[in-house]
Amino acid sequence: MRTQVAIIGGGPAGLLLSHLLHRQGIESVVLESRDRAYVEQRQRAGMLEQGTTDVLRDGGVGERLDREGLVHHGLELRFGGAGHRVALTELTGRTVTVYAQTEIVKDLVARRLEDGGDVRFEAKVVAIDAAAPSVTYEQGGKTYTLECDYIAGCDGFHGVSRPAVPDMRTFSREYPFAWLGVLADVPPSTDELIYAHHERGFALHSLRSPKVSRLYLQVAPDEDLAAWPDERIWSELAARFATDDGWELREGPITDRSITPMRSFVAEPMRHDRLFLAGDAAHIVPPTGAKGLNLAVSDVTLLAEALTERYASGSETLLDGYSASCLRRVWRAEHFSYWMTTLLHADPQADEFARRLQRSHLDYVVSSPAAAASLAENYVGLPLGR
Ligand code: APR
Ligand code: PHB
Repeated sequence: MRTQVAIIGGGPAGLLLSHLLHRQGIESVVLESRDRAYVEQRQRAGMLEQGTTDVLRDGGVGERLDREGLVHHGLELRFGGAGHRVALTELTGRTVTVYAQTEIVKDLVARRLEDGGDVRFEAKVVAIDAAAPSVTYEQGGKTYTLECDYIAGCDGFHGVSRPAVPDMRTFSREYPFAWLGVLADVPPSTDELIYAHHERGFALHSLRSPKVSRLYLQVAPDEDLAAWPDERIWSELAARFATDDGWELREGPITDRSITPMRSFVAEPMRHDRLFLAGDAAHIVPPTGAKGLNLAVSDVTLLAEALTERYASGSETLLDGYSASCLRRVWRAEHFSYWMTTLLHADPQADEFARRLQRSHLDYVVSSPAAAASLAENYVGLPLGR
């Protein structure tokens, strides 16, 4: 068996890469260890930068996104009992769009199959040869080898590609908290996202549709989901979102719940020989800056361009620059995500001095147009920087 590009992982990174390559006449095989239903219902984040929606639309997979995505022009920072709007579009000229990652995955799987793409589910990669290049995978109790020109490691944080890069340096930060995320069948209590800082901890009100809300609570890193019955979740959310003017949070049945640890992580370089890493396989950001999915999309956009150049002209210039081009953008997003996280969460280890600094920082961001503009330009996303 042989293909041009073997893609490990059928998350947004792997599926989009396969689609973008197909548009350039480059053949690929996507190997995904889970089944299709699992990949399509897994709840993840859902805030898209304008650059991300442009890639999906220009790639011909933006039809449902254009119909169902919710375009946003601002967000709210809420603390001290009051809300403060950050006017994203006024400050940057750009918008962001709420459209769940799981919907993007559904759109991409459907499109790949419609186009005759080769996406193999329940196919787990167990070995990689970055020099010869080939990948070995198991499917239905049998072991297969797929030979290729290039391998794309799009297999997320717990995948097999990253360990296949020797002489890698890694950089990381653990945070003393996690996020408890819920999906609820209740109309959102807000039109724009609310990022709330409270001494009880951070809370985020996001949305999925006019009838479905997505909410998050800061919890301890080792928190037990069983300790959070619905009533406790709603009362804790209400306490953290409370304002002096009596704002009310609508409650409804919770349909999905999970706890996600918060971590920052970068692996350098994002390449070894014929193996290229993209998305969560190479880097993780805490979700406060809404950058994870957007970084995965910008990585594979650059990788698709580099492979296109290689097959069109034989030149490896873009492939050689791939890791450095990605990492510039990755580190900017790492800094912004760390910054938003520390700005908004309640650090259980913080002393009174640190708490006063944090409050001063929040006051500054909502009272200085320059500070708000800095938040806004990072939030809506910086140019791809080819
Ligand atoms: N063989 C085949 N597939 C694998 C293997 C393996 N050995 N190991 C992992 N996978 C699959 C996983 O099952 C998963 O579906 O790789 C896929 C990786 O997908 P994601 O984790 O969604 O990562 P990525 O495509 O980079 O998307 C990044 O996901 O975690 C969020 O916030 C993050 O939004 C960001 C996005
Ligand atoms: C989400 O809608 O899931 C979401 C939005 C913004 C974030 C994180 C998650 O910062």
